[in-house]
Amino acid sequence: MPDHPRFPAPRYGPAERRMAEGLVELERRHLDAGTEADCPCREGMFDGLTRRGLLAGGASLGGALLGAGAAGAEAPPGAAQHPVPDAPERVQGRPVLDSGGYGARSQFESEVRWRYPTATALASWSMTPLASGHGIVTPSGLHFERHHAGIPTIDPREHALVLHGLVERPMRFTMDDLRRMPAESRIHFIECSGNTLTEWEAPTLRTVQGTHGLTSTSEWTGVRLSRVLEMAGLSDGAAWILAEGADAAVMTRSIPVGKAMDDAILAYAQNGEALRPEQGYPLRLLLPGFEGNMNIKWLRRLEVSDRPFMTREETSKYTDLMPDGTARQFTFEMDAKSVVTFPSGAMTLPRPGFYEITGLAWSGRGRIVRVEVSTDGGATWRDAELQEPVLSRSHTRFRLPWTWSGAPAVLQSRATDETGYVQPTRDALVAARGTDSVYHLNAIQSWRIDAGGEVTNVHA
Ligand code: CO
Repeated sequence: MPDHPRFPAPRYGPAERRMAEGLVELERRHLDAGTEADCPCREGMFDGLTRRGLLAGGASLGGALLGAGAAGAEAPPGAAQHPVPDAPERVQGRPVLDSGGYGARSQFESEVRWRYPTATALASWSMTPLASGHGIVTPSGLHFERHHAGIPTIDPREHALVLHGLVERPMRFTMDDLRRMPAESRIHFIECSGNTLTEWEAPTLRTVQGTHGLTSTSEWTGVRLSRVLEMAGLSDGAAWILAEGADAAVMTRSIPVGKAMDDAILAYAQNGEALRPEQGYPLRLLLPGFEGNMNIKWLRRLEVSDRPFMTREETSKYTDLMPDGTARQFTFEMDAKSVVTFPSGAMTLPRPGFYEITGLAWSGRGRIVRVEVSTDGGATWRDAELQEPVLSRSHTRFRLPWTWSGAPAVLQSRATDETGYVQPTRDALVAARGTDSVYHLNAIQSWRIDAGGEVTNVHA
């Protein structure tokens, strides 16, 4: 029997422990391959000191080093490989639309999602590279994913949404029906309730992509669910709505009618274009601020009832085991949370001096009103600047100028949302919930910087 040091709590079985070990190993392989450690510092901030800076410097001098480095290499996902001229201003560039009319990213940008190493690639999840992100919006191609039975291929001309149960008029909507209706666009985060689940008992993953990469923000466009429910007419006693996906898992969750009538969206677009297939093409439910799995993808059916449906995903899964042996159920809203994304785990600061500390904060209950940052493990705090726009139930970018003295430091961030809720320390969260609840870990994250500039994940 192999020794599994991660997740000693009884909630976790051997399978979960093996998965945690697999994730640690996966992250190690990615770091060895250089996908995140490639840029231990912000490009341009320390000339010639980053690996990428050294490569670029060599290329501008000798002209061949960068090309040599990439010689024979495949372009990163989402990019196309092109020859690199010595002096781009002395030769003509590529023809307009030579890639066929849909753009690609630069061949020098290689950030990708990581897939959690489950036994089958059909039931797994992938993590957003938060450390290399800018602003608040996640590129659609880097939005985290969670799948229970793979990504279905659905023809939008064949797809329909059925609405029935406790309604006056059962209805069926094609995608054309929905796209004719008044629409709206809003920017919201989606966070998996399992985000950060490896970190309850010991600092486990090394990077912010590993610890916090199951949250992403997009601009979502669609029809308000309330509008569709009003067309059908809710009957007396209507209190819950079953939302069902068209994937092979037939993913189902019970949604309170109050949320459905408040701000829920039947979304068909993301960041200005149709949803990506892995985000529910052609139609998904968006429940701003609610845990990720409730935002049912490939939405095909809504059934109104007077009670919750007690589906697999809300009984055997997605409940939170408490220290007294009872389980919290229907823990929908994601609590306020924040994390420093720069500097963060597995980076190395090249020398003392100026750095801009930056990161993301979000709350399932509304706007972020304050983010404080500590560089001494929580002994003292300073208010970070919140970058506009600061939107309800959206990632919020915070920034704080900092001069690192070169002495060991512990970076933390602490978010407060508009309800007055303050992100707890890990000790406070564990005192309230124990360490067996798996989901909803929103505690303050600590990154230790040692005298050599190396950044590691610690519990402080
Ligand atoms: Co929950």
